[in-house]
Amino acid sequence: MSADPKPGQFAKKKGEIILREHEFDGIQEFDQKLPNWWLFTFYGAIVFFVGYWFVYYGTSLVKNPQLAVQEKIIAVQAAQIRELNKLLADLNDSKLVHVFAKDPLYVAAGQATFTKNCVPCHGADLSATQDDGHGGKITLPGLPLTDHIWKFTDNPMGLFNLINKGSPPESTGNNGMKMEAWGQKLSPMEIAQVLSYVISKVPEDFKNIPETPAK
Ligand code: HEC
Repeated sequence: MSADPKPGQFAKKKGEIILREHEFDGIQEFDQKLPNWWLFTFYGAIVFFVGYWFVYYGTSLVKNPQLAVQEKIIAVQAAQIRELNKLLADLNDSKLVHVFAKDPLYVAAGQATFTKNCVPCHGADLSATQDDGHGGKITLPGLPLTDHIWKFTDNPMGLFNLINKGSPPESTGNNGMKMEAWGQKLSPMEIAQVLSYVISKVPEDFKNIPETPAK
């Protein structure tokens, strides 16, 4: 041990080492003065904290992040509704069946959306099954879309609504599983495209939709 300097008896010269009096298991502690740059950063942080605390809670100069996020969510929802209304303003059964579902560009875009979002439950061939790799089939959670059976509606705009809003509240689901509201993830145009793709696979189910809608 050193010659027992008192605590606070800092090193005066560069390189001088002062040790605290105590020692545990042969471990001793320095008693050096902290460098001024460190001390002033520390004091500065305390002063800054007081100022920032006042500005944050006492004024409205800094936006509360929770409020900012809420405002953004509301803006996004408003934009979603505007976009949906714009598309719905001139979308109808006839347009879905006779324009979109017959347009290779819409159908291809719809297929891409289907591959990305719908295949896990409805299958790549829309049969709601998947090969198990041993010549058998695995049943997927969704309903088959090519079996000519429509559980809720066979009306194109009705199907648009179903995909957009998900299973109707009164549905008990398919084996208890309901479908989510895709309008939360896909734009109205993407929903129209993905539906066009589904319709293009079973056009016979929609053959009673007239070419020009009754006004
Ligand atoms: C997580 C699984 C899942 C995914 C992913 C999924 N669905 Fe579904 N889908 C279902 C289930 C389950 C039902 C049946 C819902 C019910 O009975 O309430 C259903 C029903 C449907 C129906 C009605 C079928 C009928 O026979 O009446 C359509 C159309 C449909 N889905 C389209 C889509 C499209 C388009 C996508 C992709 C954007 C998609 N689904 C993605 C699970 C899924």
